[in-house]
Amino acid sequence: MERTLALIKPDGVRRGLVGEVIGRLEKSGLSIVALKMMRLDAGQAEAHYRVHRGKPFYPMLLEHITSGPVVAAVCEGPAAVERLRELVGATDPALARPGTIRGDLGLDITQNVIHASDSPETAVSEIRLFFPEIGGARLVEAGAEP
Ligand code: CMP
Repeated sequence: MERTLALIKPDGVRRGLVGEVIGRLEKSGLSIVALKMMRLDAGQAEAHYRVHRGKPFYPMLLEHITSGPVVAAVCEGPAAVERLRELVGATDPALARPGTIRGDLGLDITQNVIHASDSPETAVSEIRLFFPEIGGARLVEAGAEP
């Protein structure tokens, strides 16, 4: 089983798309094994987007991701990283296929509703960043008794 991080961005939360997006993830067969709403501070935003530091869109990225609450979810399933990226679609909603989350719901390349980890290695570090309180081994399996 693989795990990945989905992050519903402030535009998605503001537009009332949390239920729609989580519903699409669940219906795809991915299990949500951890979920939280939080507001990122500048340090967390910089840590999350550190690979983009120095790019022209970096300041806008930080401004947007800290502009309101986000909803972070750990998704689990076979090939979860690839599966989630397929559901999410291309970065720019204008280029994302219909049927994908960004293709159907995204407004523009900044307000593109959702972030998804781009590799299994990135998923591990992003899950650690957003869910420091749950070590992989201690994460309760979906459906397990508490
Ligand atoms: P996300 O999956 O959160 O990862 C990095 C984000 O940077 C991406 O979604 C987009 O919102 C944003 N992004 C990527 N490329 C560009 C670009 N060329 N111009 C503006 N924003 C971008």
